[in-house]
Amino acid sequence: MNPDIQSVLLTEEQIQQGIARLAQQINTDFGLTQGQSLTVICVLRGSVLFFSDLIQKLCGDIRLEFLNASSYGMSDVSSGSVNVNYASNFEVENKNVLIVEDIVDTGCSLDALTKLIKSRQPAQVKTVCLLDKPSRRKIEIQADYTGFVIPDEFVVGYGMDFAQRYRNLPYIGILKKSVYQK
Ligand code: IMP
Ligand code: MG
Repeated sequence: MNPDIQSVLLTEEQIQQGIARLAQQINTDFGLTQGQSLTVICVLRGSVLFFSDLIQKLCGDIRLEFLNASSYGMSDVSSGSVNVNYASNFEVENKNVLIVEDIVDTGCSLDALTKLIKSRQPAQVKTVCLLDKPSRRKIEIQADYTGFVIPDEFVVGYGMDFAQRYRNLPYIGILKKSVYQK
């Protein structure tokens, strides 16, 4: 295990089980098993691994879109304001859309993203997050689909970072406080 990790919160196996559960619900709710179409938005960079595992379990006509959202900088606390950059030809108008987030913490990012996507006139917008840290909410918002509710700990791995590190860990681990409280 990486020496900066205090303990493993979710193993690779637990993550995959959670994703299978989410995919099954999404396939049913959006009629994907009947061949309906869905545009799935990857919120870079944190959700990239979750996104790639999730889309492989979705059926129907799946389209992919990408945007970059950033708020943190080099801290473990959200700055509250969210910067968004869209990949070229980003297209959601009149589409059924699913926003894929890694983790909902204060709720600022998911709230801002949902409003921005809605302003582009999609047919329908829903949100999925792998992790939910409800104890730190500033905006009362919940994703339509949640993988795991977790305690108030700073986690990394499976796409999630601290200062851009640890994204490649295949599990989700609690980062040692000594790493970010220097
Ligand atoms: P929010 O705007 O405070 O809800 O923060 C959402 C974003 O902050 C997430 O998409 C993550 O990128 C990042 N974030 C929040 N908590 C953590 C954490 O424990 N580890 C890594 N990133 C986090
Ligand atoms: Mg994120």
